[in-house]
Amino acid sequence: MGGREATMVLLDENGIRCDGRKVDEPRRIMIKAGGLKNADGSAYIEFGENKILVGVFGPRDVHPKHMSNTDTGILRVRYHMEPFSVGERKNPAPSRREIEISKVIKEALEPAVMLEKFPRTAVDVYIEVLQADGGTRCAALSAASVALADAGIPMRDMVAAIAAGKVADTVILDVNNEEDQAGQADMPIGYMPSVEKITLLQLDGVLTPEEYKKCVEVGVNGCKIVYDLQKKALNDKYFGSGED
Ligand code: CDP
Repeated sequence: MGGREATMVLLDENGIRCDGRKVDEPRRIMIKAGGLKNADGSAYIEFGENKILVGVFGPRDVHPKHMSNTDTGILRVRYHMEPFSVGERKNPAPSRREIEISKVIKEALEPAVMLEKFPRTAVDVYIEVLQADGGTRCAALSAASVALADAGIPMRDMVAAIAAGKVADTVILDVNNEEDQAGQADMPIGYMPSVEKITLLQLDGVLTPEEYKKCVEVGVNGCKIVYDLQKKALNDKYFGSGED
């Protein structure tokens, strides 16, 4: 939270945000299931200006073998940002941030995937961020869930994700890049709507207990919007026009 709010109007007198949205309005979201021929499952998401492609492979043998677990399958996640995905070219070497986000997404997906059904194997999730504009971890997590379902991996539910946050002392849904940089708080949330479980909750910034509760409520409601689009993506592929 950069505290640069004074130089930028994040919320105008009509309650309209810097990109024209209302406080409870998500960015435009488009999710497509499938698309990658060589992956077992895949998905593509556009979430505002974020563009992310996910490929899922497995369950398959684990190499190196000592990483396998005789009791359960393992999930491996790689979140990778293209050097051209941001305005200022990103160093192609894996950054600490990418390693952290890979871990966060893996831990958010683990409660959803029935890994116990395939011991000794691995499910690999490759996330390619083609264009980043704030909220990539949530968009990537939502797309990864669709790609896992597309791969036919047994799941308790899909994880839907979106961030709530605070700008100009107001709780908002779906924090964009400017709001993330100059706002007061950013709370990415991952949620399994059918089993009513939160699997990701991070908070950058400061909130009062009331604001915290409001952010969780607004975020969970936002996840339900994402969830409907995730289900639609799968429906379109498997019961839709017959393309793919
Ligand atoms: O993307 P997300 O909000 O989940 O993660 P973040 O670490 O809070 O990053 C916020 C945003 O900063 C990203 O989505 C990118 O738009 C931007 N960013 C960037 O411009 N250059 C980087 N090397 C990393 C992130």
